[in-house]
Amino acid sequence: LKKAALEELENAGGLQALNELKIKYLGKKGPLTEILRGMGALSAEERPVIGQVANDVRSAIEGILNRKTEVLEQAATDSRLSGETIDVTLPGRKHPEGTIHPISKVIQDIEDIFLGMGYKVAEGPEVETDYYNFEALNLPKNHPARDMQDSFYITEDILLRTQTSPVQVRTMELMKGEVPVKVICPGKVYRRDEDDVTHSHQFTQIEGLVVDKGIRMSDLKGTLLQFAREMFGPDVNVRLRPSFFPFTEPSVEVDISCYQCGGDGCRMCKQSGWIEILGAGMVHPRVLEMGGYDPAVYRGFAFGMGPERIALLKYGIDDIRHLYTNDLRFLRQFGRI
Ligand code: PHE
Repeated sequence: LKKAALEELENAGGLQALNELKIKYLGKKGPLTEILRGMGALSAEERPVIGQVANDVRSAIEGILNRKTEVLEQAATDSRLSGETIDVTLPGRKHPEGTIHPISKVIQDIEDIFLGMGYKVAEGPEVETDYYNFEALNLPKNHPARDMQDSFYITEDILLRTQTSPVQVRTMELMKGEVPVKVICPGKVYRRDEDDVTHSHQFTQIEGLVVDKGIRMSDLKGTLLQFAREMFGPDVNVRLRPSFFPFTEPSVEVDISCYQCGGDGCRMCKQSGWIEILGAGMVHPRVLEMGGYDPAVYRGFAFGMGPERIALLKYGIDDIRHLYTNDLRFLRQFGRI
């Protein structure tokens, strides 16, 4: 029995075969179990002799079983590992590389400039209430200035925001009277315009808001001059022209000194000229008040600009619709900006 078992075990070709042999020789129905079970029928002299032999056979079988198991497991691991080796000399697969959209690029550049001046970035919802989009910005119902921005209304009180200025109000509410408030708010806005070379029913804006004690118009001008020079170049100047926005008083439109871009890069215009790039002003006392700031103590300035317009200027793009139609031949030109 011992000889047959050891021979079979030695020749077992796999872990499964080994397990079957284990059951065959050591299992409940195996010959050894049978012998041990039959011990009761033996005489007192025979019992220890037979028992001794049976135990020897058993431990011999167990010994070889353990050794074979180890050998076969090692072989299984080796073959699995060699199957999993990676051929590092295989050439990789090429993934098509995207490019940054010019609007995203301009927004990132503007964010970088203002983050460098200590501003934080805030965001607000594109589906906005009439209260935040108009009322809290000093445009009560029936105010004629609401005509300046034909809106997409969803219900009587809910609309697609026409500007990022509602984020001013939401930011002031969140700050709960703390100063300084210093944020820029990029995002999409919507107006009922016919799409053409310079208009789109959906575009982006970046709003800026600063509230603190002693903020003055010169702070606004200095901030915008710094911004314009970082964005367009160190020789650029800014000019403020009186204007009107319901939520700022006084209000201004801001021009930068003319700047021309073409295939060979950007430079100042030969003849002097000015190009409007944004609207701004000192935050209206009523807007401060509705945002939870006492206008007798605090002042602020705000500005709003259009990244599309800046992208058109900076990259010499002649039609705003190029920015939305996503023609790959157009977009690929911005691969390395
Ligand atoms: N929200 C204004 C617009 O869309 C721009 C603006 C923002 C003007 C902040 C003044 C202050 O035209």
